[in-house]
Amino acid sequence: MSMAIKNPASQATLRWQGSLTGSLILIDQTRLPEELLEIECRDVPAVVEAIRSLRVRGAPAIGIAAAYGLCLGMQTLSEEKGAEAFYSSVKQFADQLASSRPTAVNLFWALERMLQVAQQRSKSGSIAEIRAALLAEARAIETEDRQICRALGGHGAPLIEANSSWLTHCNAGGLATADYGTALAPFFTAKQAGQQFHVFVDETRPLLQGARLTAWELHQRQIDCTLICDSMAAQVMKEGRVQGVLVGADRIAANGDTANKIGTYGVAVLAAAHQIPFYVAAPRSTFDFKLASGDLIPIEQRHADEVAQGFGRRTAPAGVRVYNPAFDVTPARLIRGIITEAGIITPVTTEQIRATFGG
Ligand code: MRU
Repeated sequence: MSMAIKNPASQATLRWQGSLTGSLILIDQTRLPEELLEIECRDVPAVVEAIRSLRVRGAPAIGIAAAYGLCLGMQTLSEEKGAEAFYSSVKQFADQLASSRPTAVNLFWALERMLQVAQQRSKSGSIAEIRAALLAEARAIETEDRQICRALGGHGAPLIEANSSWLTHCNAGGLATADYGTALAPFFTAKQAGQQFHVFVDETRPLLQGARLTAWELHQRQIDCTLICDSMAAQVMKEGRVQGVLVGADRIAANGDTANKIGTYGVAVLAAAHQIPFYVAAPRSTFDFKLASGDLIPIEQRHADEVAQGFGRRTAPAGVRVYNPAFDVTPARLIRGIITEAGIITPVTTEQIRATFGG
């Protein structure tokens, strides 16, 4: 069950309201930029629906929402259950949340972290203790994400040279994280330091996360930006207007192959053709060390209406066949560097990634 709140005082992407018994408040990103509206999620199905329909989206934000979703699930469980039965119900809620979207690994990473805490505590603790430990863990995931985004900003900002112009695809800003973003964080940090630069924003078909969300965030922070249709990126690069590309990630394989919003791979190919450096910014939680390469990353397929009838207006004949993969994979060889909380990984190789994270 969820409820809408108009004109919220807070502009937090998501926040927990209450204490042990509480609710998850999210900005409904499907309503931006027309309307800043929050929704209050009170149970697991509401969080699953919010993730699936992209009310909350972006890899880190999905993970945090799912962690709090699990806390909502626990509220419905009786204290009289034994710890083991309690744990098995928590596991069922985690499975429901995990089924919401397949590509961003942060979702599974956050749920796994929560389940480990639940399992450990269910060996000795009371139900009340398990509940408290899980809420504390969800809060820790959120707090860490805020700190990590600031670190990404610090490591990435020196790349943003004076009077340079960058291109970004999709939204990897504050709306895609607890706060501040991954790929947008270096821009925010550079702006705070007084640097002059410009950002081209790909509109990001079919759901326009670039136009609706990134342009909104950059505009709010008074960062000089220009919106372009995705198909204009080649021309803009050919005209010499772009000195660097910076995007986020949904899942990075052990060798650095990177899944991000559909269209990212095309931008990387264009950047290579124009000798423009292409960077990715992502936290460690976006790396999936179990997958040797990007071919193994599951790619979400979304509904045909998003392409043929986006935002309620039919733009293709009814019944025409549509293919709508939500993500693509950019091979590591096209990526100049990956900006992480541990520094910039370059060259992007399995060995360098392992060395950076001490694995
Ligand atoms: O389908 P979305 O809007 O969830 O896709 C989001 C992206 O592709 C982002 O670039 C990615 O999650 C990085 S967010 C910091």
